[in-house]
Amino acid sequence: MTLPVVRTVPDLRAAIAAWRAQGLTVGMVPTMGALHEGHLSLVRLVKREADRCVASLFVNPKQFAAHEDLDKYPRDEAGDAAKLAGAGCDLLWAPATAVMYPPDFATSVTVSGVSEGLETAIRPHFFGGVATVVTKLLLQALPDVAAFGEKDYQQLLVIRKLAADLDIPVRVIAGATAREADGTAMSSRNAYLSAAERVIAGRLNGLLFAAAKAIGDGASVSPTLSALRADLAAAGFDAVEYAALCDAHTLAEITTLDQEARLLAAVRVGATRLIDNVAVRVDGM
Ligand code: PAF
Repeated sequence: MTLPVVRTVPDLRAAIAAWRAQGLTVGMVPTMGALHEGHLSLVRLVKREADRCVASLFVNPKQFAAHEDLDKYPRDEAGDAAKLAGAGCDLLWAPATAVMYPPDFATSVTVSGVSEGLETAIRPHFFGGVATVVTKLLLQALPDVAAFGEKDYQQLLVIRKLAADLDIPVRVIAGATAREADGTAMSSRNAYLSAAERVIAGRLNGLLFAAAKAIGDGASVSPTLSALRADLAAAGFDAVEYAALCDAHTLAEITTLDQEARLLAAVRVGATRLIDNVAVRVDGM
């Protein structure tokens, strides 16, 4: 099946209104394209929760700093549309940049609290761009449910917060991180890795899971995180931007394990940045 594509807000709204007129519920999967199994698993998740799924494909310039990879970000709309159709998606929302951000566009959305620290310490522009575009996407489509991957855990919490604070009537649901056979979190940016870098990248998740297990088993947090940083450097990563244990809901950094927690890390191998995170088991919770 060829996936129908809409490129203007009125066309998007008309397609969704036609579904609503039939009494159908609507789910959304926002993406920047370069789709992999992680995105497709979100489409399948949405199709279990809603009758129809609209996926957006928009490489959002507002979430890239000037020195980042906006220009070289992989783009393949036809290939992405075929993958989405195969996963059961019903509609592609693919606006041009001038449709999303007309020349006089003047609004931005910022979320404090959960967006502070971690990614923001490294990419200060990032969550402003994400929050602005996701707010627009949710208001354009007004889906009943929208799915985001747990791989971008801080982003997931930022989006949950903006939807709640702005009274956007959507249920934000999370999809588990899709992983390659060696455990590497799937990411569109994995395509940047050379063969040698890909081998190094494959070591991140194992070290993260091992540290999370050690902390869950009662190891002291600070020494375990120091050992994790040293192990990541020894594994060949060129930089460890952060490796932090955080409250799973507020993302406040914690040094003892007495609440639901998440271990999050960002590393660099060569010119490529990788992020991953895992839940930490807390006995009795
Ligand atoms: O995770 C992504 O692909 C993007 O940050 C999102 C949520 C589609 C916003 O551009």
